[in-house]
Formats: sequence, structure tokens, C-alpha cells
Amino acid sequence: MEILKSPRLILRPLIPNDAVHFARLLGPDPAGVRMTATIPDPCTDEAAREWIVQNTSPGAGHIFAVTHAQSGEFMGAIGFGDSPGNGDLGYWIGKPFREKGYATEAIRRIVTHASHLGIRRLFAETFPTNLASSRVLTKNGFRLTGRGTRNIPARGGQRTILKYVVEIQGCSGQNTWK
Ligand SMILES: CC(C)(COP(=O)(O)OP(=O)(O)OC[C@H]1O[C@@H](n2cnc3c(N)ncnc32)[C@H](O)[C@@H]1OP(=O)(O)O)[C@@H](O)C(=O)NCCC(=O)NCCS
Repeated sequence: MEILKSPRLILRPLIPNDAVHFARLLGPDPAGVRMTATIPDPCTDEAAREWIVQNTSPGAGHIFAVTHAQSGEFMGAIGFGDSPGNGDLGYWIGKPFREKGYATEAIRRIVTHASHLGIRRLFAETFPTNLASSRVLTKNGFRLTGRGTRNIPARGGQRTILKYVVEIQGCSGQNTWK
């Protein structure tokens, strides 16, 4: 898998040993974990390792560690699934690194990557209370397509979600980082 660069970030393939960073950043942040659909709660080193192994197995998708380009510091993760032509986007940024535009920048870079892979649209879902997540999506050209209910076993079953999509073809000019 490739290494993706943007002005402040390097997105590199996620590896099982990144579990230590998941546990360090998400272990003390259950509220953040519960905004995601599948990250284990509680986010222990062992549970995170299992999650990473599953999500980086062949055919699982394209998932990257979000690291700081200058310091190399691990700050979060981002990725999308592998269904043909489409992909579901997921991401998190550790609490100490939020509100600095890193999620916005990482999503922008991932959308460019997806376009290079010939993916035509990316889908994303958020819980309605996750205003920051809705914001980073809309800042990257995602549009809200509706509200729905989905069974999310790791989050207690049926949950209301907001659905977003970005059509990648034809959005040239915005996503130009290589
Ligand atoms: C959602 C998340 C990835 C955002 O990461 P981030 O690096 O802080 O995002 P950015 O700094 O790029 O942008 C955050 C935007 O949300 C806005 N925002 C933050 N909290 C907000 C709130 N409570 N209400 C409205 N907007 C809010 C910020 O103002 C900013 O928008 P702006 O640039 O227009 O001012 C991060 O909060 C996170 O990891 N949360 C826990 C996991 C999660 O929710 N993952 C997504 C699952 S769908």
C-alpha cells in the first residue's frame, strides 16, 4: 500500500503495532470511541490489535495511520472499504490533536487517493450528535443524503445515523495533492 503525503501529514499503512497508539489515545477517550462504528470499547492494546489485524487483512480496504509529517507522531487513523467503485470512509484523530484541521486534511488526501484508484464515490456515516464529523465531511464536499437507522452491534444495536456521500469524478481542482 502507498504512503500518502499532504502538507502537514503522512498517511502510512496501519500496522498491528499501532495498537499501542490506539490504546494510548482512545483508551482514555471512550466518548470518542463511541462516535465510531467499530473501534473496540474499551480500546485496550489487545482489542485494538485484533481490530487492526481484521481491518488490514486482504480485501478489507485501505486503512492508514495519520502521522505528523515533521515529527512522525501517530495522531489517528483513516480508511475506506473495498467494495467495487464505492467505499465507506472512517476516521479518528486523537484528542490532543483535534481542532487543528488534521481530519479535514486527511480526508481531503484520502478522497484524492480514492479518485486515483478509480473509486467513484465515498460514503460516510455519522451519529447525529457528531457535529465535528459532519463538519469535516461537508468541508470536503460530502453532502448529506439522509438520515437512517442501522444495526451497529458494537454500539448497542439499532442507531440513528446521518448518511453522506461525495461523488469523486468531477470534483477536480479541490483535491490536487499527490
Ligand atoms: C471528528 C474528528 C475526526 C474531527 O477531527 P479534527 O482533526 O478535530 O477535525 P478538524 O480540526 O479538521 O475540523 C473540525 C471541525 O469541526 C468543527 N467542530 C468541532 N466541534 C464542533 C461542534 N461541537 N459543533 C460544530 N462544529 C464543531 C470545528 O470547528 C472544525 O470546523 P472549522 O474548521 O470549520 O472550524 C475528531 O473529533 C474525532 O476523532 N472524533 C472521535 C471519533 C469520530 O468521531 N470519528 C468519526 C466517526 S464518523
